[in-house]
Amino acid sequence: MSNEKNVLFTIFGGTGDLAQRKLYPSLFRLYKKGNLGKHFAVIGTARRPWSDEHYREVVISTIQSLNPSDEEAKEFASHFYYQSHDVNDSTHYATLKELADQLDERYQLDGNRIYYLAMAPQFFGTIVAHLKSQKIVTENGYNRLIIEKPFGSDYQSAYDLNEKIRQVFPEPDIFRIDHYLGKEMIQNISAIRFANNIFESQWNNRYIDNIQITFGEALGVEDRGGYYDHSGALKDMVQNHILQVVALLAMEPPVAFSEKEIRAEKIKALKAVRIYDQQEVLENFVRGQYDQGQLDGKMFKSYREEDKVDPASTTETFVAGKFTIDNFRWSGVPFYVRTGKRLTEKGTRINIVFKQVPVNVFKTSVDEPCEDTTLPPNVLTIYIQPTEGFSLSLNGKEVGQGFNTEPIKLEYRNSSEMVENSPEAYEKLLLDALKGDGTNFSHWEEVAQSWHIVDVIRQAWDQTKPDFPNYKAGTMGPEAAFKLLEKDGFEWIWQPDEWYRERGKL
Ligand code: BG6
Repeated sequence: MSNEKNVLFTIFGGTGDLAQRKLYPSLFRLYKKGNLGKHFAVIGTARRPWSDEHYREVVISTIQSLNPSDEEAKEFASHFYYQSHDVNDSTHYATLKELADQLDERYQLDGNRIYYLAMAPQFFGTIVAHLKSQKIVTENGYNRLIIEKPFGSDYQSAYDLNEKIRQVFPEPDIFRIDHYLGKEMIQNISAIRFANNIFESQWNNRYIDNIQITFGEALGVEDRGGYYDHSGALKDMVQNHILQVVALLAMEPPVAFSEKEIRAEKIKALKAVRIYDQQEVLENFVRGQYDQGQLDGKMFKSYREEDKVDPASTTETFVAGKFTIDNFRWSGVPFYVRTGKRLTEKGTRINIVFKQVPVNVFKTSVDEPCEDTTLPPNVLTIYIQPTEGFSLSLNGKEVGQGFNTEPIKLEYRNSSEMVENSPEAYEKLLLDALKGDGTNFSHWEEVAQSWHIVDVIRQAWDQTKPDFPNYKAGTMGPEAAFKLLEKDGFEWIWQPDEWYRERGKL
């Protein structure tokens, strides 16, 4: 029987940043752990005319931080082959096929192939069509396609792309990457929910007041201005990563923890997310763009001054919004989300804010009138990154005479050492693809529904020109993002900017 670990990877975009920063080190980790053995080979393709020798040197340089011995690094890199390739030129696919068939024989790969599209999305359709027409896809083994985001730029373009891909690969062989789904703590959401009755029994609108999801980044757009200025935060982060997290938090418990069952529940959850009309978008979603700013003595330029960004750009670098989920479990519970570049800190976290006790018995008196004050709510926080873990805030008695309550935090956060030991998202996702397990990838129906949700926001925003820039680099976004919660009687639980403000550093 064919061994699923015998495989030929063909990486389109083999000289690129993603391949060098993520894919080669992840493949090396899989190799070291024995998940890839003698029977694997990699073809890297890109336009540049590199030799195999040069390619292998590059591969070796990308794994140096993993401290391989010279011998180990060389042996690993010897499985890598380079093919200069123009994705629009049919004749180049003939050469690619020849090399693929040769390697298949040399390494006894049983016809198993994984094609990784790590390049500009406008080429996805062409590459896939050629894989079939030039007979690179094999008859005897598995053929799987791993595809990086963005998957389309709206529902229609995503649909068109999907149609092209589906002519060659059936849905179970398409692995649409959302690298957040490979992160340890995103996967842990299901453990927290479904392995702890204390939480799952409360996971509904009777006990939860609101849910807050923050994907904050301290970095600006760096060298990706060209891409980002056409995308913006809504498409870059909300359509994919954030809605995936909403689905994981909102879904019903699956009957089994399998790809099929989890997927069905996630799709149902996404279908329950209300598609807003234009007025609702304007009431429930806020956009922002960063201006110059100063944080802790460091000066930052504005978005419009960044490289490859239009100096009059109206692209949003920040989004905050409220999703409404129309089903029995979640009706009435706002799911607040926010994401932005050049915020105070890098931090991805989820705050589950529980309803307060109905009466604060410690502040009321049956005998004499007394002011009633509310207690802080219990909050379950899931830390995705940079630290990983969770905490639960409770109210306890303050030590001493009398009876006052004070907040206490139960906290479990992995040390940075453990974080380093936990497998990289890409390593996990590549292993999943090797096993043919699509649980941690985005199914077409999830992608389609996410675009439906996001398209109306985009369309509503496109009707008016925003008043940008509207938040200073180093802050947690525009004023309107705070007002969004205030008008519902809530506030963002995580406000890292306060610490800097109190110390005059912001
Ligand atoms: C990517 C976005 O999908 O995720 C980037 O395109 C963003 O703009 C990145 O910076 C964040 O990922 P991570 O893993 O660094 O939090």
